[in-house]
This record gives sequence, C-alpha cells and structure tokens, in this order.
Amino acid sequence: MANLNKDSLANTFLIAILLCLVCSIVVSSMSVALKPIQQLNKELDQKKNILRAAGMLPADRDVSADGRSIEELFAEFTVRAVDLQTGEYVDEIDVVTYDPIRAAKDSATSIALSPDEDIATLRRRENVSLVYLKATASGIEKVVMPVRGYGLWGTLYGYLALDGDLITIAGLGFYQHKETPGLGGEVDNSKWKASWQGVRLFNDMGQPQVKLVKQRSASSNPAASYEVDALSGATFTTKGVENMVNYWTGDDGFGAYLKRLRSNGLAQG
Ligand SMILES: Cc1cc2nc3c(=O)[nH]c(=O)nc-3n(C[C@H](O)[C@H](O)[C@H](O)COP(=O)(O)O)c2cc1C
Repeated sequence: MANLNKDSLANTFLIAILLCLVCSIVVSSMSVALKPIQQLNKELDQKKNILRAAGMLPADRDVSADGRSIEELFAEFTVRAVDLQTGEYVDEIDVVTYDPIRAAKDSATSIALSPDEDIATLRRRENVSLVYLKATASGIEKVVMPVRGYGLWGTLYGYLALDGDLITIAGLGFYQHKETPGLGGEVDNSKWKASWQGVRLFNDMGQPQVKLVKQRSASSNPAASYEVDALSGATFTTKGVENMVNYWTGDDGFGAYLKRLRSNGLAQG
C-alpha cells in the first residue's frame, strides 16, 4: 500500500476541499430547513404591523390588552386584493402569496407614474394592492392599507389604518425604512405615531389634505383637524411621510376604492 504523506500539499488541498464541501452542505441544508420558519416569522411580523397600525395591538407587547394573540386578532381581518384604478375587488389573486411591492417592479403588473402623479417618489405603482378589512354587520370598522414613499435616504414601508368612517386616521406605522435614528427615524416614536390617531384625512371635496406642520393651527381653526406635528430636524422625512399618506389615499392610490366603499354605504358614521 502506498505510504500516505499526511503533510503533503495534495492531502492539505483534499482536506480543505472536503471541509468546504461539508460546510456548504450544512449551510445550504440549514437555509432550506429554516426557510419555512423564516417565512412564518415574516408573515407574523407583517400581521403585527397591521394590527399595530389599526390600534389593536400595543406597541410593546405581542398580545392585546384583553390577552388575545396576534393570530386571534388578525383573524378578525378579511384580506382582499383591490384594483387601484377601478377600486373593485380582484378575486383571481391569491392574497396569501401576492406581493404588491414585487408587482410594482414588473411592467406587466404596474404602471409608470408621471412626475406630477408621483408625489411619493415611487416611479411605478402596482395595478393591484391589498386591503385588510375589519367589518361588522353594521359596516366597516377599520381598513388597513399598505403604503410606501421616499423619505431622505430611501423608501419607507408601512401601513395606514382608517376608522370605519373612512375619513379619520386610526394609525400609521412603518416596518422598514432607512431614515436616521433620532431624526427621520423618529417615525418610529410611539408618541408621534399616536398623534396620527383621529387626524382627518379628506376635506369636504374628498381630497386628501393631511399636513405635517412645525406649528399647529389653533384648535378652533378647521385646518387643525388635518395636521400632524412635523419631525424636528427631519424636513425631508416629514415631507416624504406627508406625500406618502396623501398619495395612497388619493386618486392614484386607494382613492377609487375608498370612494366605492363610501358610495356602497359601507362607511360607518
Ligand atoms: C447625518 C445626517 C443625517 C440626517 N438624517 C436625516 C433624516 O433622516 N431625515 C431628514 O429629513 N433629515 C435628515 N438630516 C437633515 C437634513 O439634511 C436637513 O438638514 C434637515 O431635513 C433640515 O430639517 P429642519 O428644517 O427641520 O431642521 C440629516 C442630516 C445629517 C447631517
């Protein structure tokens, strides 16, 4: 039998290659095995964000005030796909797997926005998005919509919730952004987020009218009902959030859908 020299160059290479092979098999098997768990966690995180925007889950807890879990609370929502142009529901789309952000990147499933239309700096807008509806026999209690728009450093992604009157904001929250902590990153400040609750979205003409202001109008002034405090030292992020809310609730966003719900008598109040 040939005498194997353990310290030979060929042997060192062989061991190194075998080690790389074993490690890559372990890493790729782990990645495949953990994918379903990662997907579940991602879905749970989105549910949390939707519930928090709707004011149904406290910011610092994963159960509601009355002890209900995320899954239990989320079960109160019906998820529907909506054609943003017509405001009609689209039943052919599987709402569990559909991703509006991915759809916005494909020219077959989105439209290019002109500079005039594109106040939220999206470039393209998906033809179909999703809505999360909490309804009772007397009509809609909450509608939550996915929203996004450009701040200073990148796109902010979040959810905007409306109360059953479809005019008043129930909440706004972000799950991804690149704004600077302490400046634009204050979009995550729970006090600031709470200040969105009760803000009026549409004027009497049905146009989105939200304004982020450095100085709030006197409460006797009707303009005060559309106002939210600007973030100090973060003018670009502030303007980005204002544009984002007004874009997604306007005619090029969910405007047609919200009008349709109102004209079908589904709004409460
Ligand atoms: C390191 C650094 C990070 C910044 N991050 C943000 C930000 O996240 N959002 C923002 O609007 N402005 C940010 N700014 C500030 C803007 O450049 C700009 O000065 C600011 O929007 C002016 O706002 P003000 O008029 O409220 O003071 C940052 C500035 C610096 C130097």
